[in-house]
Amino acid sequence: MTHEFNTLRYSVNDQGIAILLMDIPGSNANVMGDAFRDELSAAIDLISTDQNIIGAVLSSAKNDFMAGGDLNAMVELFADVSDPAVALDIANSIKPTLRKLETCGKPFVAAINGPAMGGGLELALACHARIAADSANIIMGLPEVTLGLMPGAGGSQRLPRMIGIQKALEIMLQGRPFNASKALELGIIDGVVASDSLVEAACQKILDGVDAQKPWDEKGFRLPGGSGFFDPDLGNLYNYLTTTICRDTQRNTPAPLALLTAVARGTAVPFDAGLHIESCYFAKLILDPTARNMVRTLFVSKGELDKLRRRPDNVPKARFSRIGILGSGLMGGGIAQSAAKAGIDVVLLDISDEQAAKGKAVIAKAYDKLISKGRMTRDKADTLLAKITASGDYRLLADCELVVEAVFEDVALKQKVFNQARQHMPADAILASNTSSLPISELAEGLTAANRFLGLHFFSPVERMPLVEVIRGSHTSDQTLAEALDFVALLRKTPIIVNDSRGFFTSRVIAAYLQEAFAMVAEGISPTLIDNIAKQAGFAMGPLALIDDIGLENGYKASLAERAALGEHWVEPAGFKVQQTFNDAGRLGRRAAKGFYDYVDGVRQPSTAVAALYPPAEGELDYTQIKHRLLYVQALEAARCFEEGVICDAAEGDVGGILGIGFPSYTGGVFSLIDTLGPNRFVAELDQLADTVGERFRPSQWLRDRAENGSKFYA
Ligand code: NAI
Repeated sequence: MTHEFNTLRYSVNDQGIAILLMDIPGSNANVMGDAFRDELSAAIDLISTDQNIIGAVLSSAKNDFMAGGDLNAMVELFADVSDPAVALDIANSIKPTLRKLETCGKPFVAAINGPAMGGGLELALACHARIAADSANIIMGLPEVTLGLMPGAGGSQRLPRMIGIQKALEIMLQGRPFNASKALELGIIDGVVASDSLVEAACQKILDGVDAQKPWDEKGFRLPGGSGFFDPDLGNLYNYLTTTICRDTQRNTPAPLALLTAVARGTAVPFDAGLHIESCYFAKLILDPTARNMVRTLFVSKGELDKLRRRPDNVPKARFSRIGILGSGLMGGGIAQSAAKAGIDVVLLDISDEQAAKGKAVIAKAYDKLISKGRMTRDKADTLLAKITASGDYRLLADCELVVEAVFEDVALKQKVFNQARQHMPADAILASNTSSLPISELAEGLTAANRFLGLHFFSPVERMPLVEVIRGSHTSDQTLAEALDFVALLRKTPIIVNDSRGFFTSRVIAAYLQEAFAMVAEGISPTLIDNIAKQAGFAMGPLALIDDIGLENGYKASLAERAALGEHWVEPAGFKVQQTFNDAGRLGRRAAKGFYDYVDGVRQPSTAVAALYPPAEGELDYTQIKHRLLYVQALEAARCFEEGVICDAAEGDVGGILGIGFPSYTGGVFSLIDTLGPNRFVAELDQLADTVGERFRPSQWLRDRAENGSKFYA
């Protein structure tokens, strides 16, 4: 027997088992929407009332089982909600259907054939048993908290009742995905079987007998490991988690505490009351802008950029099998590793064979470290190393489809190596510079085939940093841009496209932040205080500890280069004198054992020398103002980039800020921060900072006009 549904393929086999294959039309992945919910509900009614049906198998006709809630739709939905009753309705939308499935009296077995994330896993948890295919394609997880949300389809209540509160909280608070064997070990699924016999195995499970009643619907149910606030172990766990969450999030994002509270409270009461508690906390997150901002930037916008949304049309997809890299230092070596990992052969060039070999040896050492930690095999390392040819001979560039330059940040040197490379690489191959600040159009002066030249700005450490800033120079052709984007996608990194400017987008924004921190030091605000307030504002590390770790020299040199290039048009950055003083005093950072802090045996500690150089400011400090300076100076620089056309898309700016320079993710990024404050308030805050701190904060007429018109970066 079959039944017509749009989102489900429904059939009943001759064993009397209903087979439900989820197949949401119009999308590659199954995402839960209202139509699916309603049809699932109707299917449950059919199954529970048909006496010939003994149970049901829920699987998918697509490659994934169920990707979860429709996050694209959520961004728009959440933006319009300000009424708590509406938020609660949204939070409750799928629950009754899953509860009906759970209590309908017939056993449902989830046959997990592909990724089951978020709402997808919650759907499987509502079933009476779960088996997964033995496939590398299977990932499961409840990652909502990483997007400022929490499980809202009963997951926060079912998982602890299945595997105990401690393990469930660990999974949900970390949000990390896991594979099928880990799920089996955790007790989240009941079996792993070969992919081609998954549905048959699920049917067999029903024939063997699956209890159609959940343990928590039986009288006297107790959670594994207990529940309630009077259990001393759980009491300690809740206290411990509350303090660590507050430490880690500085209460900037409400999701982890909401989740913890929903689990603690919801598991202390009967299941249906627990579901209601989950909905209440989920509704609170819907009403807070954090979730919407995080989902939009980290999921929707990042996803679109990964799909190369702004790639010029009509350019055939480029393939890369061999690339050249000029400079085998920190960045060149990192780019070589990423390319080798993507299956590309690499010619890693330096000034001599010996120097290039040194660069390759650093990569080999990094692999050794991974091997010693069990995160790479010797075979894999050997395969990757075999893809990298280290040499001083530019003639090896002959077959390269793309060459990335990563020599020292020096215009004359870069132009010299470009010309050298152009003599040997194929005439139509792309040449890219990894410069972090030098204008691409200036670097292209005198270069042949300037239309095949652009900036590919990677971030350090390249192997781990997911962003590449793709800089279009005045001569860069559409074809070059499109093919360079293909290269970035091949490396599995996220590209943002920016127009040329000194420092492009990300370096400009982070430079403004660091300069502001230097300026504060000159005002007599202690580095420790500045860094602590930055951490409170959501930065993983304070700006001064960061600059000590990376070293002050390069930033100072960039300021000097900018001064030399701009001449009388140069505007001295707010913290330039501090940079100069520190540079002249050899306070270059951790490697010099002194910078904004002193380093004794590698341990960072406050420096009396710095306190003597800049005596503590008198009077009471305004901590909120310090926090605003650190955040708004970056938002303001980002807005300037937008005004100047360096960045054309707020989504790219937001993704770039978070992924490239560690702008706090709870804000959704620099432009989301401005929108969340509202353009009027942003301008008013800037005016106040300009009046009290310095004219550098004064908003432009463009920003004032936007405030006047109520223009937001996101419609
Ligand atoms: P590095 O000092 O680690 O490496 C530069 C390498 O270039 C050295 O191995 C040097 O021997 C080599 N080199 C010099 N002249 C050469 C020539 N004529 N031919 C071939 N190789 C030559 O420098 P790093 O940090 O890797 O920076 C490289 C570039 O990447 C710079 O433009 C820098 O601004 C940019 N960048 C650096 C970032 C960082 O965090 N270090 C981040 C993003 C960009």
